[in-house]
Amino acid sequence: MTMPHPGIGCAMGPAEARAYVREARLQRGVARRLAALWRGALANRLPSGPRLDLGGGAGALALALARKGCPPLEVVDRNVSLLRLATGLQVRPWDLDRGLPVAEPALLASSFALHWLAQPLESLGQWCRALRPGGQLLLAVPTSGSFTSWRQAAQRANVPWTGLSLPSAQRLQGVLADQLRLRHCCLLRRSQGWPSPLAFFRHLKRSGLTGGAGGRLGPAELRRLDRCWPRRPQGNVAVEWEVLMILAERLNGCGAESR
Ligand SMILES: C[S@@+](CC[C@H](N)C(=O)[O-])C[C@H]1O[C@@H](n2cnc3c(N)ncnc32)[C@H](O)[C@@H]1O
Repeated sequence: MTMPHPGIGCAMGPAEARAYVREARLQRGVARRLAALWRGALANRLPSGPRLDLGGGAGALALALARKGCPPLEVVDRNVSLLRLATGLQVRPWDLDRGLPVAEPALLASSFALHWLAQPLESLGQWCRALRPGGQLLLAVPTSGSFTSWRQAAQRANVPWTGLSLPSAQRLQGVLADQLRLRHCCLLRRSQGWPSPLAFFRHLKRSGLTGGAGGRLGPAELRRLDRCWPRRPQGNVAVEWEVLMILAERLNGCGAESR
């Protein structure tokens, strides 16, 4: 592993990184699904060249792809604690807000990471343009249709929204459709049950996923949020995820025109 760039922060320490890997069941499931889709649609025409798992953390997607027969990906992430857990994978500490670390990649894969970047739409545009002819993009990213119950509760309880702002699926698709040929595009919807909003927030905190999530709520605001969060028939609270899943490729170096 090369040393990280001095300016790169590491919000998730070793304990949070281990907790993230333990608790990221949804992310692992999505990585497996993306890898299976790649196997069915694109595996037989992957060009040679650099292959990266962007914001790959401990390498869930790189591993899932390897299990589907994909040649190894390099895991790119700014968080060194997570990269240390990417056992057996090639890793590169790198801040993706600086752009990509290689030119003309053959495969850019990224799951649950784009929305953490400072400018997701701009970064996605750069990724598309960087791909070599025939290069492939595999993307899973939570989108603005997520967390509907949380948003509803925040509005009813009159407390500020403290979640991440997520990109809209429509705008992401717009960026992609301008430049790449879409091979698969779907919105995956998942609803998780948590005993309470606090249990969900604690899970986020344990896993180091609160960075960038805006201001924190005081105890009175949390109680109001808890009261206003819609209950499921089972009595627990729902946390909804809407995840855009995309497989796309760049044709002859000129993207959409060559369809
Ligand atoms: C929710 S985790 C997802 C990790 C992995 N892709 C997975 O599915 O388990 C988000 C990842 O994006 C990384 N990340 C966020 N901002 C980044 C940036 N500017 N440059 C590189 N990595 C970044 C974090 O360090 C973290 O590993």
